[in-house]
Amino acid sequence: VERIAELVEAGTPLEAWPEAFFAVADNVHKPGLLLADGFEPGAALAKVFERGREATFAELEQSGLRGRGGAGFNTAWKWRFCYEGPDEDSFCPMDKRAEVQRFVICNADEGEPGTFKDRVLLNSHAHRVFEGMTVCAALVGAKRGFLYLRGEYLHLYQPLLAVLEERRRLGLLGRNIQGREGFDFDIKIHLGAGAYICGEESALIESLEGKRGNPRNRPPYPVTHGYLGQPTVVNNVETFLSAAMIALHGGVWFAAHGTEKSKGSKILSISGDCARPGIYEYPFGTTVAQILEDCGAVDPFGAQVGGPSGTFISDKEFGRKLAFEDLATGGSFMVFGQGRDPLEVARNFTHFFAHESCGFCTPCRVGTALLKNIHDKICAGHGTPYDLAELADLGKIIKGASHCGLGQTAAHPILTTLERYPDLYAARLKETVFQPGFDLDGALE
Ligand code: NAI
Ligand code: SF4
Repeated sequence: VERIAELVEAGTPLEAWPEAFFAVADNVHKPGLLLADGFEPGAALAKVFERGREATFAELEQSGLRGRGGAGFNTAWKWRFCYEGPDEDSFCPMDKRAEVQRFVICNADEGEPGTFKDRVLLNSHAHRVFEGMTVCAALVGAKRGFLYLRGEYLHLYQPLLAVLEERRRLGLLGRNIQGREGFDFDIKIHLGAGAYICGEESALIESLEGKRGNPRNRPPYPVTHGYLGQPTVVNNVETFLSAAMIALHGGVWFAAHGTEKSKGSKILSISGDCARPGIYEYPFGTTVAQILEDCGAVDPFGAQVGGPSGTFISDKEFGRKLAFEDLATGGSFMVFGQGRDPLEVARNFTHFFAHESCGFCTPCRVGTALLKNIHDKICAGHGTPYDLAELADLGKIIKGASHCGLGQTAAHPILTTLERYPDLYAARLKETVFQPGFDLDGALE
């Protein structure tokens, strides 16, 4: 840690940092279905060609795989929508394309605080990820793919280019892949520039097209109107990796693990007050208590599951389960030990959202700044009950009126801590004389 502090202090660029730092951070505990050793590049693709398109779609459907970026949309449906998506006639006549082209985009703009599993997957299992993208291309009929890589992951750029080159040498990218006449597909890496909003899929596509990363209105979704307005599959790194493993081992193999609505396993980035932070793979349905025990959390008071936009759970809720039907997460799991201040946690996340708001729409641009200022005021001991009521009101407005997911979830940290720790908030307020008729409980409801 001291050495890292020195490098940061000296302004040393990331690419000049000793490789060992990244290797140490890639500690993988409990590898399971997805991260087990022994993946042969090309093996999953060969299975796809052996089975054929429809049978592979059927395997994917049977697996129940849902998007691993956090939202959990059914992957087989997404890919099928893209494959069967609009033909030329369904585009507006003014916008008629000579030919429908399909694209595959891997969203590696991993920016959620506390999430670092995609970095590890790309660092240690890039073949599986690229193979998943190629399987997707084979199913939907795409010829071009992009890996949109978070700008801060610059140190991965050259190694990933080398993996792509190796795949071309192995006949797993380029023309006539694995000797299949007419199956051409290649992948380009595009580096982001550090904006969190570009992880939102439509902002990512705008950025890829060379424009400012403003989120688009959805629908239409990228599966029909994505990159250059063409049908596009956008999935998270882990989703493509999972799809490659499903293509290789089959849907039943994957669906044998997890819960009824959340099949397979999930890769978590665990950080915070625990003895063994790092990457963990768990079957869905695992309890928070189990995860806390495995990572060596001593007497924690809470955990943030799913990053700032996810759920803060207190020690009374450690029996809850990792699953889309209970605690959904894109991969972030932060442990908070005794002595941490929930208001400080909420303050940190609220500052993050205010900083990362892209400014495109007013409720989020203005609302996140107001949330930050009012919350700071309360943390500093200058707040009044009216400020608490204002936080709750603003939270609802921002959630309901913002243009994209960032704004819609920006008030989560405040609203969830307000709900769980009202006494802590109340204890920070300065002594206030209520105006006659002011109903604090009603205002906070
Ligand atoms: P969403 O629910 O709107 O969409 C999820 C996916 O399904 C998208 O790819 C969307 O195009 C597709 N989709 C949804 N309805 C569809 C339809 N009717 N037809 C075709 N496709 C459809 O969720 P969104 O806003 O894309 O993502 C939000 C999630 O991202 C949150 O759960 C959040 O936790 C997570 N997130 C993850 C981060 C990370 O670093 N991994 C960072 C920030 C947020
Ligand atoms: Fe930008 Fe926030 Fe509006 Fe999303 S909600 S478009 S991040 S200003």
